[in-house]
This record gives sequence, structure tokens and C-alpha cells, in this order.
Amino acid sequence: MDDGRFPLPPEDASLDDSVLSGMGSCLKGVFITFEGMDGCGKSTQIELLAKALTDHGYVVTVTREPGGTPLGEGIRSMLLDPKHQGMSARAEALLYAAARAHLVEQVIRPALEDGQIVLCDRYIDSSLAYQGFGRGLGTDYIMLVNDWGTQGLYPDVTLFLDLDDSLRSTRMAAVPDRLEAEDESFHQRVAHGFRELLNMQPHRIRRVDATGSAAEVQERVRAIIEQELELFSH
Ligand SMILES: Nc1ncnc2c1ncn2[C@@H]1O[C@H](COP(=O)(O)OP(=O)(O)OP(=O)(O)O)[C@@H](O)[C@H]1O
Ligand SMILES: [Mg+2]
Repeated sequence: MDDGRFPLPPEDASLDDSVLSGMGSCLKGVFITFEGMDGCGKSTQIELLAKALTDHGYVVTVTREPGGTPLGEGIRSMLLDPKHQGMSARAEALLYAAARAHLVEQVIRPALEDGQIVLCDRYIDSSLAYQGFGRGLGTDYIMLVNDWGTQGLYPDVTLFLDLDDSLRSTRMAAVPDRLEAEDESFHQRVAHGFRELLNMQPHRIRRVDATGSAAEVQERVRAIIEQELELFSH
């Protein structure tokens, strides 16, 4: 990865950084991200949690990555379009980071400053897993561009939905996008990446057993949210 022409990223952008492992957004609102492989149930769980939180009286912003803004949705189309097969891994990493930078500035940070709860479908961990591990770019530079791109905005809690491959494949879209169409070894590296992140960031990233009905998974999601943030008890 390191071709010697660029300095290594500074220490404080590494995965071991305590900032990433638990400081959260430090803004008035609460920032919760959902991560996991394709088809594990992220969108379903976000929708259910958003409804529960809204019913409880919170103002909730739901957004997704890449996307969530007109620019971000344009970048999403480019990234997921199978006609861009063979996109350079670094271009891919930078496009994800660009969409994220714009989303943070335009949507996530303003909502958090306003005291809202932000639920985001994928965030930096997906870049670390897919581009860092899956594409073999390593995590240091992915952290560096994303730390810069988001101006150091990290989630208060990240829920990693863990679902067995055989179950996941029954839930996946019929027509795969460019990333979903990658070979089995790519997806194995991504899955391994998520596990590594889970091991490295146990305080921020919480594993959720994503087997069972959507309602059962939602109960587990809410239990963790309650334990971490006590959002439902007041
Ligand atoms: N617990 C569940 N049991 C059975 N089916 C489910 C469950 N949760 C979600 N599904 C269904 O599985 C499919 C994938 O779920 P969902 O879209 O929530 O996953 P996702 O993680 O957002 O996927 P993607 O990464 O492709 O966006 C959908 O058709 C959804 O209705
Ligand atoms: Mg989804």
C-alpha cells in the first residue's frame, strides 16, 4: 500500500485512536450508525428504531450512505453502477469519503447541533471494512481521509448487525449492485474486516444478533440503545 512517495498518516488517525473508540460526536444530539454486510437488515432496523424514537418524542433524522443529499445520491449511483466495474480502489475510497464529507456537513452535523438523534445507514466502518480490508487498501489511509472529511465526527454508538451468510443471501436484492457483484473472497475479507473492527472498538461498536424476525432483532437493538444511551427511560 505504501509506495514511499507519501508520508504515513499521523498517529492520531489510526484505528487504535481513543477518539474513535468512544468519544462520540460531542454535540448536543446523538449519533447512531448501523453497519453490516448487504441484506443483514440495516434499513429495516433503522426504520423501526426511528419510529420508536419519534413516538417517544425525539426528533429523528434518518440518512444513508453513500447518499442522503443530491450530491451524495449522485456519487452513490456512480459507485454502485455495475458499468463502473474495475473502478480504481483509491477512487472508490475517495468517492465514499467525498459523499460522507458532504453528508456530514450538510445533514448530520447540523442535525446533531440541533439536538436531534441521527440514524445513519453505514458510515466510516463500512469504508474501513470494504475499502480497507475488502480492497486491501489498509485502514490507515482510509481513517486519514475520513477523519479529515468528517472533521473528526464519530458515532456515539455503532450497531453491527451480524447475520450468517446463508441467511443473508435469502434477504439480498435480486439484482446485485457493483459491490454486491464482487467475488466471494472480497466479501469474506469485508466480513473479516467488520470482525476486526468489532474487536478493536468494543466500546463503540456493539454486535447485534440479526437472526430471527425483524421485531426480535429490534428488541435487541433497543436493549443496546437503552443500555448505552438511556433514550427510552426518560
Ligand atoms: N429479521 C428479518 N427477517 C426476515 N427478513 C428480513 C428481516 N429483516 C429484514 N428482512 C428483509 O430482508 C431484506 C433486506 O433487509 P434490509 O433492506 O433491511 O437490509 P439492509 O442491511 O439494509 O440491506 P442493504 O445492505 O442491501 O441495504 C428486505 O427484503 C427485508 O424486508
Ligand atoms: Mg439497506
